[in-house]
Amino acid sequence: MPGENELDPRTLFPEAKEIWLEIGFGGGEHVSGQAQRHPEIGILASEVFLEGVAKLLGQIADDGLQNIRLYPRDGRELVNALAPGSIDRVFILFPDPWPKTRHHKRRLIQPDVLDALSRIVKPNGRVRFATDVRSYADEALQRFLAHPAFEWTARYADDWRQAPDDHLETRYQTKKLGDIAPVYYDFRINSKS
Ligand SMILES: C[S@@+](CC[C@H](N)C(=O)[O-])C[C@H]1O[C@@H](n2cnc3c(N)ncnc32)[C@H](O)[C@@H]1O
Repeated sequence: MPGENELDPRTLFPEAKEIWLEIGFGGGEHVSGQAQRHPEIGILASEVFLEGVAKLLGQIADDGLQNIRLYPRDGRELVNALAPGSIDRVFILFPDPWPKTRHHKRRLIQPDVLDALSRIVKPNGRVRFATDVRSYADEALQRFLAHPAFEWTARYADDWRQAPDDHLETRYQTKKLGDIAPVYYDFRINSKS
């Protein structure tokens, strides 16, 4: 892994039209599905759960996918290593909810992670966060809205209540373990930040 702020993902995907990042891909259904639909996009994908990594590797081999690069460790390390403005889109889908209040600090969406994401995503680039846990939905939305770099793109309730057209259902999502119907928060990185 190159040092902080040094990893230019263009070196991994010289031909890609855009570069996307998914953090915590679980079984990798969303990553492989998007990679299949968008061969022109390069996708960086991180996951700490080894069985998930193995599953995605199997999918990559079965489908002959050329446009995924895996980071089988903490996605925050990858974010910190990436060069400023080097990512077009980020997906954080159904991250671990840590439902107990005393564990909320372990949730991925923390102010320092939002700072780091706002650094690596290009101006006008996009970040999608989805969850089916009410307390995480509320906490994450507050944190995104409190950060000057993130502009919530929703105009109507259905913009966040209904799955976006380009969303692919994830394995975790199908388990319906949360306490609310999924919410999908899409943000744009403010070009003035
Ligand atoms: C609840 S699962 C959801 C997985 C997948 N996004 C889905 O919707 O099916 C959250 C995943 O994030 C992974 N994870 C948690 N913290 C992570 C981190 N810092 N970096 C990468 N992956 C992480 C966990 O191992 C787990 O597989």
